[in-house]
Amino acid sequence: MPLAKEEYISDAWKEGLFNNKVVFCTGGAGTICSAQVRALVHLGANACIIGRNVEKTESVAKDIATARPGAKVIGIGAVDVRKFEALQGAVDRCVRELGGIDFVIAGAAGNFLASINQLSVNAFKTVMDIDVMGSYNTLKATIPHLKESAQKHRVDSASLKPSPLGTGGRIIFVSATLHYRAAPFQTHVSVAKAGVDALSHSVAIEFGPLGVTSNIIAPGPIASTEGLDRLLPAPAMREYIKSQPLGRIGSIRDISDATVYLFSNTGSYVSGQTLVVDGASWRMSSQNTSSGQMGYPDFLLSGEAVQHVKGQKKSKI
Ligand code: HXC
Repeated sequence: MPLAKEEYISDAWKEGLFNNKVVFCTGGAGTICSAQVRALVHLGANACIIGRNVEKTESVAKDIATARPGAKVIGIGAVDVRKFEALQGAVDRCVRELGGIDFVIAGAAGNFLASINQLSVNAFKTVMDIDVMGSYNTLKATIPHLKESAQKHRVDSASLKPSPLGTGGRIIFVSATLHYRAAPFQTHVSVAKAGVDALSHSVAIEFGPLGVTSNIIAPGPIASTEGLDRLLPAPAMREYIKSQPLGRIGSIRDISDATVYLFSNTGSYVSGQTLVVDGASWRMSSQNTSSGQMGYPDFLLSGEAVQHVKGQKKSKI
């Protein structure tokens, strides 16, 4: 469904900021990543979004294209980030049809709530594969194009003047905050996101000399996302919002604005960083899992599986 501009981007940014730029995004049909791409498209970019579900990916791509008349947005479904060859094929198509890749958002992720007792070896591996291997595969398939774009858009090292062609050669990994402390029922994703963070830092160091920047956006609880639906039982939402430092949860616009900041000239000297966009949520000691029907540690000790969230496992482990 087409969104009003104020829903996915603030009015701080200049129209045409990303004219002639191309963004490649995995997990691009999801709520957060599609908003990030929509913001870039609104500001002039063309885009290629990747997902597993063909119908959903293609229809979200069409929808994102409504953000700007004349925008080209390709949705490539049936691409699992765990399969490098499929991803490489999508990258090749993106470059063939849109002319290159200037920005990458590695956003594909998988999650559900399960204690270590309830987490099979394959369940743990699945999330590691989607998040860590998926991010690595995305990097490997796109880095030649990011290097090329970075060369074209370098800040002049003597004058420090930005390139007249704008920016390019930048990657953002979408991570999380739950591994900064530790969260029950989230071992798999905590380990995976710690790996994603380490990957981003290494990219910043190894490809910085070629002009590529690499950063992490770590969203907090964002309204109407599958991530939150999978983590927070619906009845606990009101209490949870009240517990947040800013008295609200985040919006997709909060994440899009952070993305534009990192990809435009405002982010030219920002690399190897994590931009936490969570209204100071993770600094609070209370977590959703310590409230209401999932009180810590009683719920863990009960051996019960989590109920009333999206993505529950039907069968017993
Ligand atoms: C325990 C579970 C489970 C659950 C699946 N498994 N769901 N175990 N509790 N709720 C187990 C399965 O039993 C199986 O193990 C293994 O995981 C693989 O499951 P599959 O269904 O075969 O995998 P697949 O089809 O690849 O699906 C991947 C998935 C799924 C991660 C399990 O949930 C998914 O596709 N998610 C994508 C969408 C998503 O998660 N969005 C939220 C992203 S938000 P066995 O042993 O039975 O073979 C996000 C943010 C994180 O990531 C941070 C937030 C703060």
